[in-house]
Order: sequence, then C-alpha cells, then structure tokens
Amino acid sequence: MKSFSVRPLYPHELIARRVQELADEISAVYDNEPLIAVCVLKGAVIFFSDLVRDIRNENMMLGFLRMSSYRDGMNPGQIQLEWTLGTDIRDKHVLIVEDVVDTGNSMACLLNEVRKRGPKSVRLAVLVDKHERRETDVQVDFAGFQLNEGFIVGYGLDHAEHYRALPDICVLDIADE
Ligand code: IMP
Ligand code: MG
Repeated sequence: MKSFSVRPLYPHELIARRVQELADEISAVYDNEPLIAVCVLKGAVIFFSDLVRDIRNENMMLGFLRMSSYRDGMNPGQIQLEWTLGTDIRDKHVLIVEDVVDTGNSMACLLNEVRKRGPKSVRLAVLVDKHERRETDVQVDFAGFQLNEGFIVGYGLDHAEHYRALPDICVLDIADE
C-alpha cells in the first residue's frame, strides 16, 4: 500500500502575485496586437484562467487544446494531442500556456504542430519550469517558477487526475506502508 500526502510549496497568494507579474510582462510584449492565447488542458486550466484575466490586450482570443502524455503517475509516456483550436492561427501571434515543462518532450511535439500552421510568432508561458530535467530543448519565454526536483500537484496540476482543485501548488510525497 502507498500513502500520499501533500505539503504546500507555492501558496496561492504567492502564485497570484507571480501570475500578475507574468501578465504584465506579456501585456508589454504584445501591446494590443491580435493574439491567440492557447490553454493546454487539463493542467493549465487554472493558471490560464487567472493569467488571461490579468493580460491587457483588447484583441486577445482564447483557444483550448488537450495534450496528455499518458503518464503512469510520475513517469513520462506516449504523447497524445487533440487539436481543437477551431481558429486559424496562420499569421497570428500565438501564446501557449502550459502548466509544467519537464523533459520538454510534450512541448516540443506541440510547438512542432503549432509551427506547421504558419503563425506570426509563438511564445510559451509556463507556470513551473523544471529546466534541470530537460531532454529536448524548449524555449520558455515566461516562467512562473523554476523547480529542480519533486513532483507537484494542485492549482490545476494532477497526479492520476487527483488534486487539481487544490488552491496551492504542493509537493506530493509518496510513502510505502
Ligand atoms: P514533459 O513532456 O516531460 O515535459 O512533461 C510535461 C507534462 O507532464 C506536463 O504538461 C504535466 O502535465 C506533466 N508533469 C510533469 N511534471 C509534473 C509534476 O510535477 N506534476 C504534475 N504534472 C507534471
Ligand atoms: Mg500539461
């Protein structure tokens, strides 16, 4: 039997301040130029909802797609992407909003799909950048937090679909009983 416990790493007040800072940076980069902000479901859902409401851009549209890596709990697996954007992104600025970049393999796959469709620019906003674990090089333009080790849950992030609704980002500890 395994037992799971969570302990807060980034409390929600800290996350809120950091998200506001990222939104200010993003607002300054695009000004009012037409922009499609893309939420990578499900993990980025809460980050995205908070972030886009703090971005000042009268010409921003929102898009959603789903990417899962069939993780067996914490281990990376096969990447699956459901392209459900609906909007044509050719010649438009695209801002991808993702929860975590870890090995970078999922994001490299997604960036490849986005670039194939001829956008004017592509930038990436990531809540938690686990840059030390990178296997595939990915440029993160806006990063909320840098993390070297540990598996985290909450604020949209899951372990086997659990813990997404926790307001804080927490470290998940797993012990054998
Ligand atoms: P990558 O392909 O290894 O970069 O994996 C990225 C994906 O794995 C992210 O989009 C997350 O959904 C998931 N992931 C990686 N690390 C964590 C974590 O610590 N907590 C929750 N999900 C994670
Ligand atoms: Mg994800």
